[in-house]
Amino acid sequence: MPLYRWLYEELRSTILAGRLHPGARLPATRDLAAEYGISRPTIVTAFEQLRSEGYVEGKVGSGTYVSKTLPDELLQAPRAKSVTVTRRRGIPLSAYARRLRPLPRAESRPARAFRTSQPALDAFPTSLWAQVAARRLRRVSSRLLAGGEALGYRPLREAVAEYLNTSRGVKCTADQVLIISGVQQALDRTAHLLLDPGDPVWMEEPGYPGAAVVFRAVGARICPVPVDSEGLNLEAGRQRWPQPGQPGPRLVYVTPAHQFPLGVTMSLSRRLSLLEWARRSLTIIFEDDYDSEYRYSGRPIPALQGLDRAAVVIFAGSFTDVLFPALRLAYLVVPSDMVDIFAAAESVSTHHPPLIDQAILCDFISEGHFARHVRRMRELYAERLSVLVESARARLAGLLEIPAVEAGLRTVAWLQGGILAEQAAEAAGKYDVEVVPLGQYAYGRARRDGIVLGFAAVDARELRRGVEQLASALEGCRP
Ligand SMILES: Cc1ncc(COP(=O)(O)O)c(C=O)c1O
Repeated sequence: MPLYRWLYEELRSTILAGRLHPGARLPATRDLAAEYGISRPTIVTAFEQLRSEGYVEGKVGSGTYVSKTLPDELLQAPRAKSVTVTRRRGIPLSAYARRLRPLPRAESRPARAFRTSQPALDAFPTSLWAQVAARRLRRVSSRLLAGGEALGYRPLREAVAEYLNTSRGVKCTADQVLIISGVQQALDRTAHLLLDPGDPVWMEEPGYPGAAVVFRAVGARICPVPVDSEGLNLEAGRQRWPQPGQPGPRLVYVTPAHQFPLGVTMSLSRRLSLLEWARRSLTIIFEDDYDSEYRYSGRPIPALQGLDRAAVVIFAGSFTDVLFPALRLAYLVVPSDMVDIFAAAESVSTHHPPLIDQAILCDFISEGHFARHVRRMRELYAERLSVLVESARARLAGLLEIPAVEAGLRTVAWLQGGILAEQAAEAAGKYDVEVVPLGQYAYGRARRDGIVLGFAAVDARELRRGVEQLASALEGCRP
């Protein structure tokens, strides 16, 4: 094979395998010539061939780049091949790996109505964050650069403990607080530390699928328990999942402040019964307090953790929706006798979440910016929520009904007149509106046709456009 042809084949297969991404710059012909001991004209010929076939663009001399518009069919063929190659090699995977399913990635397109999984990133005070970060970096100590404790940056753990005790009705000391890379990681850690294959785990139905994915991966048995107007229905759970000869499930996952995705707040009496039952049945309660900083009406009820007298609650909260998703910082409050085992798990994996980010976040909280930001966002989200509710009342009557929203950044909406949720979501997509059918959060068929709408990520104008478009989409779905 002539040398130019060999080089052409090498580069082409690298591009097709995705190892050189669209837009990536190819090495300079001079560098390639030196590296491979080939003459430059040979390399130029190989580049010309790639250019004439559309794999690369740009001029020799001013840089050659992988084409941004590679035809899809070219890219898909080798991907399919690489999957079969993995299968053919038959590398044995662990039982855990065989059960593992990925969580869908966050949407990468710009936010539009009614993105459910995003806060108002357009309103995040980036310059302020940059100032706090720059100040911290300018005076960073060698001690901080050297790394820290597995449980997290001590001053941040103290700031979080103070915030949780004063604002969330949690009763803890900083010693029980762990900083972790997201509630998702907190769930994963908890599952690995507390569950064995076959262990029953009670989950709210409908509920947060990210938790179910984690529990399934460790081999736990998911036991869906219905949610009513007071939250997880304990009695229904006991009837549906009797445990003859066993104390109870190993773990129950709940979102009491603002049920995901129905939005109901767990009543005080239900909280007390759940705690008493967990104490008697030796069940650990995982309390996911995700995005409950944002409450618009109704009285906040103390966290389960704050009412717990038997040390059965693991409490988790996140900075994802309160600040921004890329931060990947969250906290766990664990019973004192579990702190060491959580620290051990952290020490053998990430060691600790990035310490500089923890220090920046700590400064952001202790300088008062965090509390101010939450206050500002609560006002903004309340405004956006009222735009959604009012335009829905005017334009979606008879098609969709939004129940009273007390907290959070999203709401369920009940479809009217026999409109089916899956069909509604598909039609909405065609009108450039994002909605999630409730069935995506159910373990079987959803018992009622509903969709979930986010109202935090986009401004009033986009919300109004969304309502208009959704109305047209739903009108076309009437049976
Ligand atoms: C109820 C609930 N819990 C946990 C998470 C994951 O949180 P984090 O981003 O902190 O991993 C999400 C993310 O959407 C969520 O909705």
